Amino acid sequence: MENKREQWGSNVGFLLAAIGSAVGLGNIWGFPYKMGTSGGFAFLLIYLIFVVFVGFSVMLGEIALGRKFGKGILGTYQAISKKYTWVGLLGLFSSVIILSFYAVLGGIVVKYMGAFFLEMLKKGGAFNNMSSNEYFGTFIMNANGMLLYFFIFLAVTALVVMGGIKNGIEKFSKIGMPALFVILIIIIVRSVTLPGAQAGLAFMFKPDFAKFQEIGFFNIIKSAAQQMFFSLSLGVGCIMTYGSYLSKKENIEKNALIIPIADTAMALMAGLAVMPAVGAFAGVVEGISFNAGPGLLFITLHTVFLQGMGGFMGAAFGFLFYFLVFIAALSSSVSLFEVPATFVADKMIEKSKKPNRKKITLGVMTLVFVIGSPVALDGLGGGNLIDRNFFFGRWGFLDFYDLLSEGIFMPLGALIMSVLIGWRLKTGYIKNEIEIDGHKMKAYHFWTFCFKFIVPLSMIVVLYAQLRAFGIL
Ligand code: PHE
Repeated sequence: MENKREQWGSNVGFLLAAIGSAVGLGNIWGFPYKMGTSGGFAFLLIYLIFVVFVGFSVMLGEIALGRKFGKGILGTYQAISKKYTWVGLLGLFSSVIILSFYAVLGGIVVKYMGAFFLEMLKKGGAFNNMSSNEYFGTFIMNANGMLLYFFIFLAVTALVVMGGIKNGIEKFSKIGMPALFVILIIIIVRSVTLPGAQAGLAFMFKPDFAKFQEIGFFNIIKSAAQQMFFSLSLGVGCIMTYGSYLSKKENIEKNALIIPIADTAMALMAGLAVMPAVGAFAGVVEGISFNAGPGLLFITLHTVFLQGMGGFMGAAFGFLFYFLVFIAALSSSVSLFEVPATFVADKMIEKSKKPNRKKITLGVMTLVFVIGSPVALDGLGGGNLIDRNFFFGRWGFLDFYDLLSEGIFMPLGALIMSVLIGWRLKTGYIKNEIEIDGHKMKAYHFWTFCFKFIVPLSMIVVLYAQLRAFGIL
């Protein structure tokens, strides 16, 4: 039959795709500066606790649920009971929202990659002699440019997804992920051998428990948990969707362990690539400091390559670095794109129709382009075209999309899933799926404990902290 569902060609293919989903802007951009400003090693400890007790168990639950029913997120929840359709819809909605701002940011990465490439060829001048701040500010206010690069990034994502699970996503991941790893190593070597690099290492790793009081323990917990969720692509159906294409022969427990370990290792490595380079020039070159926060990716690092390292080598490393960020972001956006794509494909298979990947991807792409356009059109929320306080008189598009997805839907999705599986359906549900290949589920007791108690409790804390941060509670 033509309309059977696809499968990954191999377990390695699945793993690389899932790690590709996990490793993205969150690792390279968010993690290093958040760790540095939130207590260094002390933050890392809290982050690791979340990875072990929450990340691993939700990852395992998502892969097992996806594989059990062989459906995307909506199909999975509907298969459990029609009552839970809304939970699936939440995930579906969330993935589309994240993709629509993620791809705008991905577009800026493409722009930088191209500009550094030109800088390398022309030996200067590609940035019109502007400061990094000016360059970034000018570019994001250029509505046409932003829309164009958003479109390019989205189209490349669609192109990968169009190839399907095995010939699109898996093939891309098998080349992209090893390439990403090699480039990361090259940049780490360059970065840590720069004179003065230690300052960056100290910024990132030095334990600073006093920060817990300064920032507030609650806020630290919230930011570690949200960072972990976002970084592991949990709670929106990406991992569930990828899991639904996994063969019944494969060992889910092992996979659920490898993905978070790889993701955390890559986040730490990204920190080693980025922070020592910032440290080498902080206080030496104007505009380079540790305190840029989100300005790290497009402003601070831009100055590091262009003025800190400078010359041809600076441009070459700049190109290499943004190329690395591009691959990381692309493999994540592909997984977000696959969530709605799988939903439509599954619906067609249910109706005994052959899913047409081309039509599906074009449809999803159009939807995401429409939803994401306000983010691109208006300087990421800093412009004057669209009301900066469009949502509830407080948030612009980028902030609101981010708050909605990362702040609420992701933890809420995990909360509902853990309560549903841990308390209502009983955990044997997952155990049976994991043991289907004949091996015994080793982490059963640990996992049950996490799913019943730790995941719901910590998600409630995160949601509470988030609503308080909104000023709602
Ligand atoms: N994990 C990705 C990152 O770290 C982002 C992502 C979130 C991807 C949610 C898929 C789902 O950048």
